[in-house]
Amino acid sequence: MCIFWPPRLVLAMLMPILVTSEYEYVSWKDLGDSYGKSPQCVDIPEDLRLCYTVGYHRMLLPNLLEHETMAEVKQQAGSWVPLVHKRCHSGTQVFLCSLFAPVCLDRPIYPCRNLCESVRDSCTPIMEAFGFPWPEMLNCSKFPQDDMCIAANVTDVAQSPGNSPTCPPCDNEMSTEVILEHLCASEFAIRTKIKEAKIENVDKKLILQKKRKQMKPGSLKKEELRKLVLYLKNGANCPCQQLENLRSNYLIMGRKVGKRYLLTGIHKWDKSSKEVKKALKRLQSQKCPIYETSFK
Ligand SMILES: *[C@@H]1O[C@H](CO)[C@@H](O)[C@H](O)[C@H]1NC(C)=O
Ligand SMILES: *[C@@H]1O[C@H](CO)[C@@H](O)[C@H](O)[C@H]1NC(C)=O
Repeated sequence: MCIFWPPRLVLAMLMPILVTSEYEYVSWKDLGDSYGKSPQCVDIPEDLRLCYTVGYHRMLLPNLLEHETMAEVKQQAGSWVPLVHKRCHSGTQVFLCSLFAPVCLDRPIYPCRNLCESVRDSCTPIMEAFGFPWPEMLNCSKFPQDDMCIAANVTDVAQSPGNSPTCPPCDNEMSTEVILEHLCASEFAIRTKIKEAKIENVDKKLILQKKRKQMKPGSLKKEELRKLVLYLKNGANCPCQQLENLRSNYLIMGRKVGKRYLLTGIHKWDKSSKEVKKALKRLQSQKCPIYETSFK
């Protein structure tokens, strides 16, 4: 049995979401062992960017990921904003916010397992390109199948139209905000030129020119910077516009995964790159969300 959720009275913007219900109030204890503290209903602050635009204005705290303070929610949620921008699935924001910023009701409503699986299947390839596995905290088998839960509008789950295939690290919007998000999500950022981009198995390998400048301070040791070779994971055949003509300077972002360095973002850097410069400047003063903890 499906019912529309939430009721029109409460908010209209969540129309694409349904709550499925068997009208059985099966125990939530299996899911919510730690849901002991009595949760409060608070406003979703504007700087909780992952969820501020989700369509409702109040959320439960602690949330369903056991974050107890708003500061913790913001810190952890921030690392998912780039994934929502990648538009791997139209239900990504609703799914994540049902956990990070659950809608205020007298009891928690979890996302449905099939919403989780659908988002996971669409977004895992993108996360993998960045060297992140689907995290255990979002293991879909934790979420209910037939209890009341948040589901995506099934007619609306496909990838957003106009989302042409490209390599995820190459497909970046040129806005200060988005560049900053990617800078935050990356372990290091350098400015350099590229000597060669060649295919190696399923990946693309980037050989850099000698001159390299660190733009995210302290992230790479001198020795690492000197030897740095980057890989575009699973990127042997995906189109990366930035690599078509290698004459430019680049802002290159990456992460170390195992023994390799993955390319996580690439922007041409020429005289007109105002957005890149602004983002780097803001990186100096802004605190980034903590990625390593939130993807586990
Ligand atoms: C589901 O999405 C389709 C297309 O976006 C829309 O026409 C339909 O009304 C939606 N259904 C619900 C229940 O929101
Ligand atoms: C998800 O959790 C289930 C049950 O706890 C476990 O059996 C399964 O291995 C987990 N899946 C992943 C991908 O970790």
